[in-house]
Amino acid sequence: MILVTGGLGYIGSHTCVSLSDAGQDLVILDNLSNSKAAVLERLREICPNVVQFEKGDIRDKATLTRVFNTFKISAVLHFAGLKAVGESNKSPISYYDNNVGGTLCLLEAMTAAAVRTLVFSSSATVYGDCSDVPIPEDNSRSATNPYGRSKLFIEDILADLYASDNQWRIARLRYFNPVGAHESGRIGEDPVGVPANLMPYIAQVAVGHREQLNVFGGDYPTRDGTGLRDYVHVMDLAEGHVAALRGLQRQGGMLTVNLGTGRGTSVLELINAFSLVSQREIPYKIVERRLGDVAQSYAAVGHAEQILGWKAKRQLSDMCADHWRWQIENPDGYPES
Ligand code: NAD
Ligand code: UD1
Repeated sequence: MILVTGGLGYIGSHTCVSLSDAGQDLVILDNLSNSKAAVLERLREICPNVVQFEKGDIRDKATLTRVFNTFKISAVLHFAGLKAVGESNKSPISYYDNNVGGTLCLLEAMTAAAVRTLVFSSSATVYGDCSDVPIPEDNSRSATNPYGRSKLFIEDILADLYASDNQWRIARLRYFNPVGAHESGRIGEDPVGVPANLMPYIAQVAVGHREQLNVFGGDYPTRDGTGLRDYVHVMDLAEGHVAALRGLQRQGGMLTVNLGTGRGTSVLELINAFSLVSQREIPYKIVERRLGDVAQSYAAVGHAEQILGWKAKRQLSDMCADHWRWQIENPDGYPES
């Protein structure tokens, strides 16, 4: 059985579907701080295999001990954490507590239970303000905010752990910009409040929840002056986790891998692609740059293909179509239930 921390969140829930499709039984541990119980019902509709759920916090030792004692866990996929950059500037302590402190608690519990296989959700944010694209895994790392620094710290903690005991099998997966939804339209991204990220904002404009999109900067040195990012379909990302787990089971070691498509898409290109698929107009206005944004960021993807045999398959039009299906069928996100 696989333990999925944060498995009711956006990326965790989609990864649960891919793991289940691959024949794995799952237990999700989530404190519902950024997700809803309805996700579990939806997952149980679409997952062919067993999905157990424990409500609890990864910082709670008693909960972790109970989970490891109750289920026969062979590996952990660790998504639980806080992820809002702006909020991390305002509340750095809660970011270090949740992300770094939570990971330490989890690692202690794994050590006690002799479970030594871990897939960790890192981020392209560890490349800091690097604009030299495509970005390879051996690029220098830095952080521009507490959220990013929490990912850097955890990456280093995992490296130290592996250096201390190479029985550990650890994958540090650096996601670029996950978007889209499962093709069933039953699960998807459900941000609380005003979306900070581009794709959910566009989707909310298209569905009529918001009037217009502010495009942050039209004077970047890119082909149309707007920022370029590596948008990757969340189901490709999910399948990347299954590949990483298989890679660890096959060869052990510590893997550090970018998960992206290797292609940069501009803000205006994404607006156009979404508008085409949804047949809706997306009103927008070009405004000042957002503080801390880089002009362009996209992944070097050769390493993922070489060591995991994984490559993103879905196109930008699939990302928009699946995100749109989720948005139109669930205009207010998940029900509270
Ligand atoms: P999310 O907020 O949708 O999911 C995180 C889940 O973890 C939520 O269900 C939340 O309730 C749970 N959680 C948070 N703290 C917890 C705790 N202490 N104990 C138990 N559960 C807890 O986020 P997501 O977009 O699915 O991201 C998952 C992981 O991937 C995060 O670690 C995030 O930093 C990382 N990541 C996300 C992105 C992105 O753009 N979404 C990009 C790079 C990396
Ligand atoms: C975000 C995260 C970053 C994370 C990365 C990958 C923030 C501030 N940063 O950055 O930590 O590593 O995702 O998951 O959340 N844009 C607009 N208008 C909007 C929103 C965004 O024009 O309303 C533009 C941005 O300027 C950028 C692009 O759209 O050029 C993508 O923005 P976003 O979705 O926030 O992703 P990142 O900037 O890559």
